[in-house]
Amino acid sequence: MNVLHVVGARPNFMKVAPVMAALSRQAGVSQILVHTGQHYDVNMSEVFFAQLGLPMPDINLEVGSGSHAEQTAKVMTRLEPVILERKPDIVLVYGDVNSTLAAALVCAKLAVPTAHVEAGLRSFDRGMPEEINRLLTDQIADLLFTPSADAEGNLLREGVPAEKIHFVGNVMIDTLVQLLARASRAGLASVPRTYALVTLHRPSNVDDPAMLRRIIEALETISRELPVLFPLHPRTRQRLDEWRIEVSLNGQLRLLEPLGYLEFLALQREATVVITDSGGIQEECTYLGIPCLTLRENTERPVTVTMGTNVVVGRDMKRLQAEVDRILAGKAKPGTVPPLWDGKASERIVDLLVAWHQSRTSGQKVSFPTDSTSSHPGS
Ligand code: UD1
Repeated sequence: MNVLHVVGARPNFMKVAPVMAALSRQAGVSQILVHTGQHYDVNMSEVFFAQLGLPMPDINLEVGSGSHAEQTAKVMTRLEPVILERKPDIVLVYGDVNSTLAAALVCAKLAVPTAHVEAGLRSFDRGMPEEINRLLTDQIADLLFTPSADAEGNLLREGVPAEKIHFVGNVMIDTLVQLLARASRAGLASVPRTYALVTLHRPSNVDDPAMLRRIIEALETISRELPVLFPLHPRTRQRLDEWRIEVSLNGQLRLLEPLGYLEFLALQREATVVITDSGGIQEECTYLGIPCLTLRENTERPVTVTMGTNVVVGRDMKRLQAEVDRILAGKAKPGTVPPLWDGKASERIVDLLVAWHQSRTSGQKVSFPTDSTSSHPGS
């Protein structure tokens, strides 16, 4: 079986790593890794390849930044000849970034089978570019690997046939489980004993100058009672510079460069609270049992709220402050780890891919490993 993986942006790298590793242990499988180049800075891309043990990409499409249309179109036109030349049996796409949808579209038009890892998540907010990427990718993918039980219901409601959907668990947690012991803040300057860890990059928060100003003011206020560490996504740094938003760096609120996986995980593991608009970080906090306050109106990962430590505070800075105070008072929301977030999701994906390939090459219908146990083996 010839498997081609397409990744492009930071949150893809921790998802592809365990799947590639599990496939490499399977006889008769060859793999090709394509990096679209959507993220290209050393600290947004290269550092992850080194820390996650990923092989160097076989091909880099070097699409870089641009408008959504430009970025999506460049991935499509540059990926199409690669697919035609390499003739993969199946293409794996990950998450919800522009590279994910672009690759799925190319494959659908060439009638090359696609599997979507992290299928079925929905925020029900079509103002988010990622929601469009999720909806469309799931409509055209052939195999849908879901991370949580809610995802299957979303897909069925959208008319996706049940036999395409497989509840495998969360591959990002595979990476976390594997690397937690190596997480280290050795490379970081002095870290306070207690702190809030902040990440923000969603257009709804950082592309609106009034909103970004309100968030920075709120973080300044929080930093008077709890030091704040804020690694800045390049998009957020650009916006702060562009609008000349002053951040009063009183030693309590510290802006950092984007961090590597192991450094960020080390900070996350010991944070008093994480304040974020990222999707993946909500999930990592749930696994680690760290209180998470999500600065968004919604989440496509509701299991982090119903079962985990996540609280969606919206864009209301008073609510943010109140939730921080509640955590500092020792009254953080408790949480549990959702089913199949057990470090073995990528092994389940490999079993399914092998069964899928056998059924195609033998021309016979082979039952998938999850068929006999229902699509909710962990629930
Ligand atoms: C993308 C994904 C988002 C994901 C996020 C993680 C889409 C639609 N969005 O958003 O889902 O959560 O990645 O980081 O695909 N830039 C750099 N260096 C880089 C990469 C980006 O400076 O290595 C700058 C570029 O100037 C660009 C801006 O950051 O304009 C945004 O990058 P882009 O890839 O367009 O989207 P993200 O905001 O990173």
